Amino acid sequence: MAQGQRNHRGRAQFRVDEEQESTPIDDRLFGSFVEHLGRGIYSGIYEPGHPTADEQGFRRDVMDLVKELGVTTIRYPGGNFVSGYRWEDGVGPRESRPRRLDLAWHSGESNEFGLHEMRDWLDKLGGNELMEAVNLGTRGMQEALDLLEYCNVPSGTELSERRRANGHDRPFNIRMWCLGNEMDGDWQIGHKSAEEYADLANRTAVAMRMIDPDLDLVVCGSSSHTMPTFGLWERTVLERCFENVNFLSCHAYYAPKDGDMASFLASGVDMDSFITDVKAIIAASRARLGSDHQVFISFDEWNVWYQDAEASRSPEGIGNWPVGAPLLEDVYSAADAVVVGDLLITLLRHADVVHAASLAQLVNVIAPIMTKPGGPAWRQTIFYPFALTSRYARGASVLKSLQSGDTYEISRYGRVPMTDSAAVRGADGSLSVFVVNRNLDSSVDFSIALPEQDRDRQATVSTLHEDDPSARNTLEDQERVVMHARKDFRMDGDALTLQLPPISWTVIHLA
Ligand code: AHR
Repeated sequence: MAQGQRNHRGRAQFRVDEEQESTPIDDRLFGSFVEHLGRGIYSGIYEPGHPTADEQGFRRDVMDLVKELGVTTIRYPGGNFVSGYRWEDGVGPRESRPRRLDLAWHSGESNEFGLHEMRDWLDKLGGNELMEAVNLGTRGMQEALDLLEYCNVPSGTELSERRRANGHDRPFNIRMWCLGNEMDGDWQIGHKSAEEYADLANRTAVAMRMIDPDLDLVVCGSSSHTMPTFGLWERTVLERCFENVNFLSCHAYYAPKDGDMASFLASGVDMDSFITDVKAIIAASRARLGSDHQVFISFDEWNVWYQDAEASRSPEGIGNWPVGAPLLEDVYSAADAVVVGDLLITLLRHADVVHAASLAQLVNVIAPIMTKPGGPAWRQTIFYPFALTSRYARGASVLKSLQSGDTYEISRYGRVPMTDSAAVRGADGSLSVFVVNRNLDSSVDFSIALPEQDRDRQATVSTLHEDDPSARNTLEDQERVVMHARKDFRMDGDALTLQLPPISWTVIHLA
């Protein structure tokens, strides 16, 4: 990495506000998402015959990278896919599982991989939590109840015994359930009005709690901050469901619009105001209903996604329903990774209300990990900010902080700060500061006022930055973009100072 010294130079200061209480970060903030979509599963996490495949066909090379990424909860099986899915197709003897149409992605579904395989895969990863979504598109309350009975009832009923006969004696004990997916979007199979959805979600939630009262239920919020129904949708849904749900979902995908890179790099500004808006709507509903129940945000789809690119075009044709064809295989740049780093900073800063989040998705499909069928698996650029944030912020608390510094003007969001940052205190007492310089041209002189307890610590600093922000990791050049260890910072008593190159994401860890 050459330290990009372009034309301008900005300044920013960061200080932990030690007077204020810190916020514990929920492990679920580092979740991801595996949908039956493209090569997410088939030739992604599951590829029998691959040189690294285990006896169940799970790619060990992919499992190693997933562990290194540090993901916690996995949302499954969709996404748009879930709104046409029959969960029963994916359980029982493989040879009798049907091949189906997946209308969401105009694909075929072999059902070779289903609920048991997902649970087994998570157990092999280390027991990660499964967050299961139910189909409220083509199906409804009864099928959700059946799935819950199959998963969580220990034994002695038709469906719990079927699970046991299928090889899983103990219940799956799934705690977190999504009541459908993106039901506000007209692309969703079985799309509903806010009133219709709120009614169905509420009745389903009440009935699910009759089986298992302490579930964590996620009701669908808006598919993006820019949905025409945003705000009204949340208000209507919460009005009906407030007491019976624990989470309201948010989804957001970012990409440059009309080549406006400056605004794209500041996507964190939109995520920040999206969360602030939804937090206010939750508070308003709570006050209006006179409730003392708490509803949190599950930001269960977020990432950079080039939705208009060729890679995101679904197959076409009445006779063309390929299983596991490449879809949504965005190859991420260094600039995309900086945006992802900023989105992570934004999620951390809102850890008081965002108690769960899922990077969408995990392997091959808009993913931090890529694979070649029969070949290697490698890290995309966006892998790095996620892995480092998870490494230092899991089990930690977010510290209140004061930030000041130079601002600049961009067309989409007006005047915004050049940098954005968050600090966490680890359970081991360490301090980590994550900071992004989202400006296209200016480097920033960044200084951290060190709390007294951190002044004698050892600092490790690394930065993601490339002079060519379009640099990417590919099959041929898998480590073109990596984190760069820095030695060029200064630690003088009560301050740590360093230069942040333009379009960069940095982590400072004081252990
Ligand atoms: O993650 C890709 C798709 O984005 C999901 O299936 C859907 O929920 C969202 O629109």
